[in-house]
Amino acid sequence: MRLALVGFGTVGQGVAEAVALKRELLKEHFGSDLRIVAAFDSRSYVYDHDGLDPLALVERKKAGKGLGKVRRKEVSEMLSELDYDVLVEMTPTNILDAEPGYTNIRTALRCGRDVVTSNKGPLALKYRSLDQLAKRNGVELRFEATVGGATPIINLSRELLLAEKVDSMKGILNGTCNFILSRMGEEGLPFEYVLKEAQEMGIAETDPSYDIDGIDSASKLAILTNAIMGQNVTYHDVRRTGIRMITQEAVALAAKEKKVIRLIGEVNEGGVEVSPRMVPIGHPLAISGTLNVLHMHTDLAGAITVVGRGAGRKETASAIMSDLVGLLKRNACLVNGRVK
Ligand SMILES: NC(=O)c1ccc[n+]([C@@H]2O[C@H](COP(=O)([O-])OP(=O)(O)OC[C@H]3O[C@@H](n4cnc5c(N)ncnc54)[C@H](OP(=O)(O)O)[C@@H]3O)[C@@H](O)[C@H]2O)c1
Repeated sequence: MRLALVGFGTVGQGVAEAVALKRELLKEHFGSDLRIVAAFDSRSYVYDHDGLDPLALVERKKAGKGLGKVRRKEVSEMLSELDYDVLVEMTPTNILDAEPGYTNIRTALRCGRDVVTSNKGPLALKYRSLDQLAKRNGVELRFEATVGGATPIINLSRELLLAEKVDSMKGILNGTCNFILSRMGEEGLPFEYVLKEAQEMGIAETDPSYDIDGIDSASKLAILTNAIMGQNVTYHDVRRTGIRMITQEAVALAAKEKKVIRLIGEVNEGGVEVSPRMVPIGHPLAISGTLNVLHMHTDLAGAITVVGRGAGRKETASAIMSDLVGLLKRNACLVNGRVK
């Protein structure tokens, strides 16, 4: 299976390393060789039909060299010309217009290529049209890495729990907010102090608004609502309140009632919402640190809770690998004639 990697930052390099590490194992299991044939960053690209050395690509990138040649065309134009099987789209999330990821993904789907992505923008804004485009072209669009890095929520729900009806979902979908709220509660520290600490530790961005204003959580919740509950919402349909206004006093008051404050995303009959809530200590959602958690209620299984790491180079690469394994499995079934 030949991969074109678009975006070669933290996640892209993590994927290259994971491919190098797991290639033999996957070949043994599926009889198919996972090869990176193209890689793009914001300015350069490299393409080799026979496959590239993943670790050499990471070394070049680390050394501050481009990936190969300077790119003179749009990535999307090249995606319609080059020969590959799967686009792995890992450019930055853009919640305003979803570009450049949206056009890259559309192009690959239109050209009959499967797509795996970690980019939240296209899924949070244009899920329905991308899903339909994939179906019309008989290919797959997989996006486990868009929500909860190494927390296998989407594939679990869409594959193993396919026969279940998910009635409601509640979760913590942003590790940065959870770190800040946990530290405030455990150490009695003010919001601004913990935010600065999180920025120094690399847990929060220099501009933290995407996380602390709930934008990231709302994007992820929109993706889950569509993918798991079959609804048709976008990021704009999610009612959203962030954590900037959470004071030490509010956290202390919650503690007196044996509760913690957490930024919770919830989908139920009332709608889709991200907001700070009080959670009883000991409840599955009262997790600490940078972890993510999703608690869902289904008609047959009842309550299911999935906890895991939400972000990071290896963790997000793990989610992308799970989607690639899904495609390898499907291809193996096609070859064996078990599935049309
Ligand atoms: N990091 C995580 O833990 C994590 C977890 C889940 C999901 N995600 C999502 O995964 C995606 C990638 O995240 P990241 O952390 O790897 O970001 P990153 O480190 O900023 O890397 C982004 C990459 O995209 C490239 N790029 C930017 N604009 C481009 C364009 N127009 N065409 C082609 N390439 C372009 C950049 O090129 P240069 O190298 O030249 O700058 C860089 O290689 C984002 O959508 C993010 O939201 C990340």
